Amino acid sequence: MTATQSPKVLVFAGSAREGSLNKQLAKLAAQRIEALGGQATFIDLKEYPCPLFDEDIEAQGMPENVQKLREILAEHQALLIASPEYNGFITPLLKNTLDWLSRPYGDTPGLGLFAGKWAALVAASPGGLGGIRALPLGQQLLANLSLTVLPQPLSLPKAGSAFDDSGALSDDATGQKLDALCQRLVDSLAATH
Ligand SMILES: Cc1cc2nc3c(=O)[nH]c(=O)nc-3n(C[C@H](O)[C@H](O)[C@H](O)COP(=O)(O)O)c2cc1C
Repeated sequence: MTATQSPKVLVFAGSAREGSLNKQLAKLAAQRIEALGGQATFIDLKEYPCPLFDEDIEAQGMPENVQKLREILAEHQALLIASPEYNGFITPLLKNTLDWLSRPYGDTPGLGLFAGKWAALVAASPGGLGGIRALPLGQQLLANLSLTVLPQPLSLPKAGSAFDDSGALSDDATGQKLDALCQRLVDSLAATH
């Protein structure tokens, strides 16, 4: 990153589903980061389908969409991920994406794309628990990747009715929690870049 560039947050969801509640939450988080003085890029992983990780596939060459995702990640200094839980665990899409991005490639060593970067995690679910069971697991994974993970992730229960017509969160207290998390990410980046 050159001195003239501001640090940027890459925002995506751990669901590729059309109409994904987590994509909706991720898009809102990206808007809030921008409103709070940061820079954010939302990407939809459905536009970058990657094969299920297999070292034999990797040995044949890094898949094109993995290369694209690696280039995008290289231009960002933080991640904000909104992911559902599947059976109380992180989704295979999220794990697969992070596994591909963790690999050494070219001049970049393993985990090199994550080194020195920040991460924040949020979760949305139509159920009452808001995906809360997978949040600590996702945080642990992100920490294993050498990211500095912000504490106090946000969970959004009953997410099917949590957004108003403008895409904002209907419940003010939850909106404030999202803003607080986004602000901490923006402040952490400003303090370290
Ligand atoms: C395989 C599978 C497992 C699921 N397990 C959970 C679960 O453990 N907890 C939960 O709250 N919702 C669970 N769900 C429901 C998802 O939260 C729901 O489909 C949600 O809308 C998915 O996120 P999205 O809207 O971002 O695609 C599961 C869904 C699938 C497909």
